[in-house]
Parts: sequence; C-alpha cells; structure tokens
Amino acid sequence: MPITLKEIAKQAGISISSVSLVLNNKPNRISEQTKELIKKIAEENQYRPNTIARSLVTRQTKTLGLIIPDIENIFFSKLAKILEIEVRKEGYTLIIVNSNDKFSEDLLLIDLLISRGVDGLFLAISNESYLHEEELVEKLTKLPIPFVMIDRILESFECNKVYFDNITGAYLATKYLLEQGHRKISCVCNTYISKNSLSRINGYKKAMDEYKIKVPKEYIIPANYRVEGGYLAGEQILKTDCTAIFVCNDMMTLGVIKKFYECGIHVPDDYSIVSYDNLLSDFLFGIKLSSVDQDINELGISSWKVLKDCLVSDDQKRESIPQDICLSPKLIIR
Ligand code: RIB
Repeated sequence: MPITLKEIAKQAGISISSVSLVLNNKPNRISEQTKELIKKIAEENQYRPNTIARSLVTRQTKTLGLIIPDIENIFFSKLAKILEIEVRKEGYTLIIVNSNDKFSEDLLLIDLLISRGVDGLFLAISNESYLHEEELVEKLTKLPIPFVMIDRILESFECNKVYFDNITGAYLATKYLLEQGHRKISCVCNTYISKNSLSRINGYKKAMDEYKIKVPKEYIIPANYRVEGGYLAGEQILKTDCTAIFVCNDMMTLGVIKKFYECGIHVPDDYSIVSYDNLLSDFLFGIKLSSVDQDINELGISSWKVLKDCLVSDDQKRESIPQDICLSPKLIIR
C-alpha cells in the first residue's frame, strides 16, 4: 500500500498541510532541510498523489471518457489513440470503451463513465442510436458533464459536434470514377440507418445525377461497415454489370477485395475501386487504392479543443454556445 500524506507527516514530524504544500510544489515557508526530508520519505515509500481524495476537493478527476462503436475498426482505434495522446498532454486520463455499435451499450457506457466520475465525454454513437434519436437526445440533454459528438452526429440536436462533410467526400470519390470514364458505378454502403452512410449515398447520387445516370437499384448495396459486410457485398457486385465501385469505408473494401481475390478477380485490372477512410495504404500489397481521407488527427485535435473549452472550473463555467464543426474530407488518388 503506497504511503499516505498522513504517514509522511508523522515520520517527518510536521503537519499534513505542510507535507501537501511541499509535494505539490506550492509556495511555503518550510526549511530546505525539512523539504528534503519530506521528499526523501515520499520517494523511498513510493508516494503517489491520491487522485480520488484530490477530486473530492477540486471536484475534477482529470479523467475523460470516449465511447466508440467498433474498436476493431482502424478509424476508431486511430481516433482513440490521438485523443489519448492529446488529453494526456494536459494531465487527463482517457477511459476508452466500445459500444459494439449497440444503442443499449451507448446508454450503459454513458452511465458507467459518469459513475467513474469523468469530467467530460467524447461520443461516437452506434449506428443503432439512429433508431432511438429521441431517447438519446433526452439522455444527452440531462448529462451533468460536457460532451462532444464525434464523427457520427445527430443533425437536429444542437450540441458540441465535430464531424466530416460526408456528402462532399462521396461526391469527390464518385466524380473521380466518372471522370475516369466509368458509368456503371456501384456503391457499397452501411445499413440504411447510418446517417453518415446515407450522406455518402447522397454524395454518390449527386455525382451520378450530374452525369444524367439513372442508378439501378442493385447498384446500391447496404452492408455493415465491417469486413464481412464488404465480403458479402462483393458477392452482390459480381451479379451486376458495374465496372467500378465506390465503397463507403475501408473495412468493407477489405471484404470486397477478399471476395474478388477468392474469385480470381483483380483490382484495379478488373474493377476500379475508390474507398473511404484512407487507412489501408500501408496494408494493401500491389493494390493502389484511391480513398477519401478523413484526417483523424484533425478530427481528434478539434474535438479535444471543443471539450477543453467546456472543462472550466465551476466558478468560470460559462453558458457557451455549442460548437458545430464540419471538417472537409480530401480524395487521395493512387
Ligand atoms: O470506418 C468507419 C466509418 O464509420 C468511418 O468512415 C467513420 O466516418 C465512421 O463513422
């Protein structure tokens, strides 16, 4: 059991408050000799500040929560890494939890993190949440701590949110395939409840409309933002006459390529593909994959800045207007 302030004070023959001043480097009139003695006792006995005790005084735990829908998805694991690095620079600890894209888990994890005393919350909601928007808004409206919705947002709910322009991202990807001469372009997307996937479908349709192309129903293939969803979508694609594919995220693209590989089909020789997230270039051997880049560094740093603005001590808390930050994706052509 690490030594406490009280035990150090007893050993040094000085008050607990004096020991606290010395170990917290606060101004004091304690002799250098006594300061050295206090530091020596603390070091020899592995003294560590009791953050729980401190939080009772400061009413801050310097701990934040991050809820992500799929920790196996490189997009979210990278986002978690960037946020953890950024918040730790300023003395915060980040508790990262995974909802596995379930709304019930979103609710449970919000309560769990609050019970752990987090000072603030980053929230990338599950796809299922879009079937329970009213209930989620009610929950978030009553949250006792500041929060930021990241990447997956509730458009009609005024709160802190940082996300990318999904319509433009998909439009750029599809426009590129059209400019390459493709007219039979399919779109592999997430389930139709996913709002950011619906926006990507709209961006795809916007580009196709500009070329006066009527999109056959079988060209739009809903999957699930995961490798296995892309694999099954690959089977569907082979039943169509399309020559190019816009895939709404990299995990599904891996599944499509896996299915094609099993069938002896080669990318880009047999099909052109443009993906989304731009996270595979280090993993795909021999395949140059163009992809829409959502700068996750920018997403993480912007989200942390928004939440940090809210983490002011109670006496400075201001009724700040929620920040709504829409970032621009970029098409990376390979
Ligand atoms: O790959 C996961 C996808 O879901 C990303 O495109 C990101 O936008 C997230 O919402």
